[in-house]
Amino acid sequence: MVLDWDRNESYRCRCWPEQVQRRRSKRLSREIPKRFRNIGFEREPVPSIARSAPDVVRNVRSYCDRIDEMLDRGEGMWFLGSPGTGKSHLAYLISQAALARSRSVAIYTGPRLLDEIRRTYGEDESGATLDLIDRLTTVELLHVEDLAVARPTDWVLEQLYNIINGRYENEKSIVFTCDLTGDAEEGSDQLPSPSWLARHITERNFSRLTEMCGDPQLLMGADNRHFYRRHEWES
Ligand SMILES: Nc1ncnc2c1ncn2[C@@H]1O[C@H](COP(=O)(O)OP(=O)(O)OP(=O)(O)O)[C@@H](O)[C@H]1O
Ligand SMILES: [Mg+2]
Repeated sequence: MVLDWDRNESYRCRCWPEQVQRRRSKRLSREIPKRFRNIGFEREPVPSIARSAPDVVRNVRSYCDRIDEMLDRGEGMWFLGSPGTGKSHLAYLISQAALARSRSVAIYTGPRLLDEIRRTYGEDESGATLDLIDRLTTVELLHVEDLAVARPTDWVLEQLYNIINGRYENEKSIVFTCDLTGDAEEGSDQLPSPSWLARHITERNFSRLTEMCGDPQLLMGADNRHFYRRHEWES
């Protein structure tokens, strides 16, 4: 609060909304896991990812360079593709850029996010779930790793909708990764496609995400975890 002694008035400082936002997001998970701390565009594996997917890394760099503008506009980004292709590294570059600008960030894996919501159910009837959903929909950046949780039930889809629709209405950014190994129909040799995700998380969730995040950043190819292991085995 700012006190104006001459006028004998008090009013909210212009930093008020930012302070409220920061306090509310404090109880959300915002830790970058050890593996993804201190990553950078000049540090491996990002230059290698840039060699196999130059456009994707260029888009991420441009997003990070304009992070304040992107978050203010509620624009997000999503990374879709096969395992071990660098999706998480690129997504964490965005969270890191947001944290460096002191923006409020919440970081969850899909299953952990749902666990947290489930836990609030047992707490009491004082609106703990609503409070958590409210915080998840107002934090400036929500980063979800592996959004497409296995076997989504109606309950899971409803929670996803509450969060995604809440963020959509509040024009808040979301960054998420999604692994598409489960995509190809059995026996089919087709490449995985976003339509699988739409079926998996429902069209109404998918539709909102695509409006907020634009086209998916596609990262396809061999699993680089296997690549390194194979080198070790073969040498
Ligand atoms: N293009 C690449 N070149 C070299 N190494 C890479 C490349 N992409 C990823 N890696 C390495 O592969 C491993 C996995 O990276 P990361 O976790 O970012 O992949 P991911 O796409 O998120 O995988 P998943 O879908 O399984 O979560 C890391 O050890 C990373 O250093
Ligand atoms: Mg990942």
